[in-house]
Amino acid sequence: MPKGLTIGRSDDVRERIEKRTTILELLDTNGSVEITRQRIVAGRHFNLYADDEWSGFEFLYLVSGTMMLEDDEGGEIPINPGDFIRHNGLSEKVYFRVETDVEMLMVCTPPSFHLIREDMQEMIAMAQAVEEKDPTTDGHCSRLGRLAILIGERLGLTGEELISLSYGAFLHDVGKVRVPDVVLNKTTKLTDREREEMQKHPDYGADMLSERDYLGGAADIVRAHHERWDGKGYPRGLRGTDIPIGARVVAVVDTYDAIVSARPYKKALAKDEALRELERNAGTQFDPGVVRAFLEVVRNSEDGKAGADVS
Ligand SMILES: [Fe+2]
Ligand SMILES: [Fe+2]
Repeated sequence: MPKGLTIGRSDDVRERIEKRTTILELLDTNGSVEITRQRIVAGRHFNLYADDEWSGFEFLYLVSGTMMLEDDEGGEIPINPGDFIRHNGLSEKVYFRVETDVEMLMVCTPPSFHLIREDMQEMIAMAQAVEEKDPTTDGHCSRLGRLAILIGERLGLTGEELISLSYGAFLHDVGKVRVPDVVLNKTTKLTDREREEMQKHPDYGADMLSERDYLGGAADIVRAHHERWDGKGYPRGLRGTDIPIGARVVAVVDTYDAIVSARPYKKALAKDEALRELERNAGTQFDPGVVRAFLEVVRNSEDGKAGADVS
């Protein structure tokens, strides 16, 4: 057989999630793209989320069975074998009713397969709860997930690294659920004690993630997302390439997003100013290679999509 060619048999699946009326199987992934097979039994309803959290590209090809897309006027549009649906993020939820048992092939980027696991959903709910404590950071985790993937791809990270990166970015501050509210919500300067407490959030978060096998790589990223290239970060004071690459990426996108988002104690700075700030701190706070990749990504997105949330 030619080198590099893989034949997958129908039961060769990387991972399988079985729910009462749905079976989802991850057939393959290269980290930034996932190919999933889904089987849903007749009579079931499902929907595509209108959610900018993982907006990327999603493609569904109906292999067998028939399902109905429910339009806003209460009508139904049949989707038959061979038909396909694609979207780049939806403005509102789209509902389907499964007429006869269906089998679909889905191609999706960025990765989202693990998101439907219940334990992952719990983590996401926690990450969002943390965000909601500070309404001005609304959407921060989702934007980070997207930006981090773009940079990771630019840096040529492997598939495994990209998956860990997207989860690590999304969940970077989940450990804040264990930090007392009085510390978390304080808008004035923290005392030494309070800062110490606050600086435990990377370890708290990493410990939560590392309980799940598939989040081990993400846990390493979460633990190191406040480390600095010059070794002056926390919690370990790691330096340079001792800091996992994913954590170096998250550090950059986290700072960028924090600057461009309005905070109680800081007016939103313009995107250009945020970029200048990153450049200024390349080589001290940040990995200069990551900053370079970030600038390329932001400047290359002709419609400014990578920085689309910048106000
Ligand atoms: Fe953090
Ligand atoms: Fe953050």
